[in-house]
Amino acid sequence: MKAGRTGSLLWSWVQPEEWIFKGLLLTLLLGVCWSPGAHSLEVSVGKIPSLEALNGSDVLLPCTFSSCIGFEDLLFRWSYNRNGTLELMLEATIKGPGYEPRIVFSDYRVQFAGTSKSNNISIILLNVDFEDSGQYICYAKNPKEKNRVHRATYTLLVVSELKVVDKTLTTIIASVVGGLIGFLVVFLLGKKLILFAIAKSRERKECLVSSSGIDNTENGPTGTKSKTKPTPKA
Ligand SMILES: *[C@@H]1O[C@H](CO)[C@@H](O)[C@H](O)[C@H]1NC(C)=O
Ligand SMILES: *[C@@H]1O[C@H](CO)[C@@H](O)[C@H](O)[C@H]1NC(C)=O
Ligand SMILES: *[C@@H]1O[C@H](CO)[C@@H](O)[C@H](O)[C@H]1NC(C)=O
Repeated sequence: MKAGRTGSLLWSWVQPEEWIFKGLLLTLLLGVCWSPGAHSLEVSVGKIPSLEALNGSDVLLPCTFSSCIGFEDLLFRWSYNRNGTLELMLEATIKGPGYEPRIVFSDYRVQFAGTSKSNNISIILLNVDFEDSGQYICYAKNPKEKNRVHRATYTLLVVSELKVVDKTLTTIIASVVGGLIGFLVVFLLGKKLILFAIAKSRERKECLVSSSGIDNTENGPTGTKSKTKPTPKA
């Protein structure tokens, strides 16, 4: 009984903090979901929205979606932008979180490569040709959000051989940046050293001044000593 009471007392004492914590969490969630600019549903093709692929290879076109308020009967499509008109490549629906997508339409060269577990709606385009270069649009429509459509674009460039120019260019950029950083470090170190040297020499000067001061005071007592010497005599 007593232990229970102290327990509930402790609990009621802890509770306010817990509520503050919950409130903070809620505000954070609300802030993420409803802050201006952030959509409830977001479609993304990743940090690098373009790719160079070899002629004849199979290419992964990445796309994921995330939703704060959840989704229901989500519809998603992959389309190729051919001269401004969208050519459907794949269409599917997802009943809700955790459900596997139901493919409604798929081009014969397209393979679904995603998984419901991570809201991954990527596809693989088989045996790409030069004509497959261009923009690929991944879009999703969430009936739970008044059928608002969200989209992301991925750009593919099909080449006969992967260039090394990009690598040398990045090497050049990296070395230039590295050189600049190195120069900056040396410059700052040099500045520090010079300042240190100036400070040291100034210190030395101060030392000289103070030591001469000590000399004076040392001379002083000897002077007073010589002065005090006569007094016992008197
Ligand atoms: C592109 O790939 C196809 C199929 O692999 C091949 O027949 C064709 O010669 C290739 N073209 C070039 C320019 O490499
Ligand atoms: C439009 O399509 C035609 C034929 O499909 C093609 O020759 C042309 O290069 C395309 N134009 C652009 C701007 O992609
Ligand atoms: C989505 O799935 C593909 C193929 O399974 C995988 O390569 C890719 O990394 C996944 N993307 C994310 C963001 O998990």
